[in-house]
Amino acid sequence: MAFPVQRLRRLRKTKSLRLLTQETRLVSSDFILPLFVADNLKKPEAIDSMPGVQRHSVDSLIREADLAHSLGVPAVVLFGIPRKKNVSASEAYQAEGIIQKTVRRLKKEIPSLVVITDVCACEYTSHGHCGILERGQVANDPTLGLLQKIALSHAQAGSDIVAPSDMMDGRVEAIRKILDKNKFQDTPILSYAAKFASVFYGPFRDAAGSTPSFGDRKSYQMNGANVREALREIKMDIEEGADLVMVKPALSALDIIARAREQFKLPIWTYQVSGEYSMIKAAAQKKWLDEEGAMVESLTAMKRAGADRILTYWAKEAARFLKKELA
Ligand code: PBG
Repeated sequence: MAFPVQRLRRLRKTKSLRLLTQETRLVSSDFILPLFVADNLKKPEAIDSMPGVQRHSVDSLIREADLAHSLGVPAVVLFGIPRKKNVSASEAYQAEGIIQKTVRRLKKEIPSLVVITDVCACEYTSHGHCGILERGQVANDPTLGLLQKIALSHAQAGSDIVAPSDMMDGRVEAIRKILDKNKFQDTPILSYAAKFASVFYGPFRDAAGSTPSFGDRKSYQMNGANVREALREIKMDIEEGADLVMVKPALSALDIIARAREQFKLPIWTYQVSGEYSMIKAAAQKKWLDEEGAMVESLTAMKRAGADRILTYWAKEAARFLKKELA
């Protein structure tokens, strides 16, 4: 039985019918807001390559997190910019480090907000790579100890979820071990499991001052052409003890999200990264496309592909949009 008995346009006729038959619905609790906090700032500072996003002081970050939370955003992810960087990334694991200070304040002032901390060295190394260098290469196993120290210091500060984004082999197991040894057996690990070496991280690196001073990240982040390898990465991280996994970037990896959703039972999150945000922002500023429409369409596609939650710089705006849509 096909046309003319079947007419798919029947259910598209009015806004109400379209709403009634919509398969994928965004809600404000889908979104997690990434936030940058810099140790040397008294007031927030604009980021040229990410219009609308700021590098925060601790105080302004608290206000921003509070605003997002009041709009229904359940969680934030923190990225720190230290006062000084060095080859050993030692600022990343100090009890008085920028992330550790910010986490303590956030947990005290907004207890119901879930605080996730990015565990990586690239914002803290003078060379901008995500680990310890040996003979000009990012050395896997020596980096594991550093990641353990960072994750433990985050947990001690009160981080609700630690999120390693470095792509070293074995880091989930290493972090699970150190947390358990220190009685943080209940702190979950969100693993950036399938993280592709992507040009779409460009604006983030401006924001965090973490552009590698030589080479690129292709010896640790994944080749964007590989599906089976992405599924292996996810499987390994689950075996090592990840509680949640992430696929990143989002829009250029929707197939990976869909495949992971089919294959694995644990939560699959995705990250609409800086470049995905900034390219839409830039086009919208030129009036080449509608920002709100592009925001909703891209977020809907991620959820439709199977992402349970989405890290997005638009978390607040998207939550506001949904309120308006329902009103
Ligand atoms: C740290 C990290 C990066 C991002 C998240 N964690 C940068 C990178 O890997 O170069 C990118 C996020 C974004 O682009 O919004 N390793």
